Amino acid sequence: MRDSLRDELVSTGQQHVLRFFDRLDSAGQSQLEQQLLDIDLRRIHQLVHGKQQQHDWARMARRSQPPPAFQPGAPSDTVGRERARQKGEQALRDGKIGVILVAGGQGTRLGFPHPKGMFPIGPVSHNSIFQILIERVLAFSRRYGQPVPLYVMTSPATHDQTVSYLDEHDRFGLPAKDVAVFCQGTMPAVDASTGKLLMSSDRSLALAPDGHGGVLSAFVRDGLLQQALDRGIEHLSYGQIDNPLVQICQPELIGYHLLADYEMTSQVVRKSDPLDKVGNVVVVDGKMCVIEYSDLPEDTARRRNADGSLFLWAGSIAVHLFAVSFLERMSHSADALPFHHALKKVSYVDQLGMRHDPDQPNAIKFEQFVFDLLPRAEHAIVVEGEKSDVFAPLKNADGAADDTAADVRNAMVRLHTRWVQLAGATVIPGVPIEISPLWAVDAEQVTERMTEPLVIERPTFFHE
Ligand code: UTP
Repeated sequence: MRDSLRDELVSTGQQHVLRFFDRLDSAGQSQLEQQLLDIDLRRIHQLVHGKQQQHDWARMARRSQPPPAFQPGAPSDTVGRERARQKGEQALRDGKIGVILVAGGQGTRLGFPHPKGMFPIGPVSHNSIFQILIERVLAFSRRYGQPVPLYVMTSPATHDQTVSYLDEHDRFGLPAKDVAVFCQGTMPAVDASTGKLLMSSDRSLALAPDGHGGVLSAFVRDGLLQQALDRGIEHLSYGQIDNPLVQICQPELIGYHLLADYEMTSQVVRKSDPLDKVGNVVVVDGKMCVIEYSDLPEDTARRRNADGSLFLWAGSIAVHLFAVSFLERMSHSADALPFHHALKKVSYVDQLGMRHDPDQPNAIKFEQFVFDLLPRAEHAIVVEGEKSDVFAPLKNADGAADDTAADVRNAMVRLHTRWVQLAGATVIPGVPIEISPLWAVDAEQVTERMTEPLVIERPTFFHE
């Protein structure tokens, strides 16, 4: 162990991590030493003990205004859906669009023993979320005759399984040159009451993924930002793996983003209840930002316009478009994304070598959030989407009140049933329908495909 590292551990009050060091074999010693070298001990110290710039959310919330927004098709929509769609289609035809899917989360609430993207969500096909979303990318790539590079972010918890899964399935048809899987960084978890680094074993710190905002540093670190620039990618369509309805690559959304010439655009849904558990996209002092539902005071959340609609209406669904030039600019700005403290359950070994699996939150994890890029964008705007068309998050194990696999499947079936009904089909109530993105990605395409009125009496999966 280098002296400088020992000294730094002492000066930052973390020397307890060497408790077992002398007893470890050399592999164990080098593993622990490398982990310690990889983390910025001073930064951890600062995060734990330093004066955090604490946001006074309540005050911010009271100064909040609704964000500038496109409401596609509404009288206020000066751009118009058709113009937006054509603009987005042209960008796809010109090969200027890439996709980022973040899939590094540990999925602790779902309790599925594999990366969440492998969850067999298809209501009829049982296809995985990975398959559904990759086929969506492939569908757009085929439709516009240009490759759409897909960048999948994993974490140490999901990386190896994701890579083997995608390899085993030949990346569901996407060429290898168009898929990059990159692993996000980690941050050590600390004891919530003492700020001491937690150990997951005698030779390892308890490390956790650094949040979906870790995408910026990992994307740059692995040379993918440069690669995207070299390929002529100008905008990235960003979504989370846990939403099978996510509108990655959606031409209309891309078109609004491009026509307004913004650095960052977020898709939002109108909140149906003031206390909906989604982040609130708002503008404070001219900057767009997200205030988590837990930080929004109830009276502010309940504020209404004269017509009875919610004043702060825009719910974040973590779907964004980024100009690549914006990400490049942010990559030079070390403080682009702050670390948030998340109180979580983290298993650890204590100073006697005893393992603990706490049943209450005991640790602080440090996470970056991608939406913290919003206030950094020169121009940012939101585009409203219809919740039932765009958002069905898979978060919880069956039996929970919401966001379970059953909820997600029902949402998929409802949407796809609506599409086939619009195309003239009759669906016997209760019969599940699923549509592969390779068959159709939206209602218009279903109408093009369905040349005769069908009566659907049994579970049906429309696919190539
Ligand atoms: P969540 O915050 O919902 O976390 O992630 P999760 O891992 O899916 O579930 P829990 O909280 O452990 O139950 C939202 C999205 O952000 C990604 C997840 O993969 C998911 O797509 N994410 C989250 C990352 O890629 N990295 C992270 O460090 C955290």
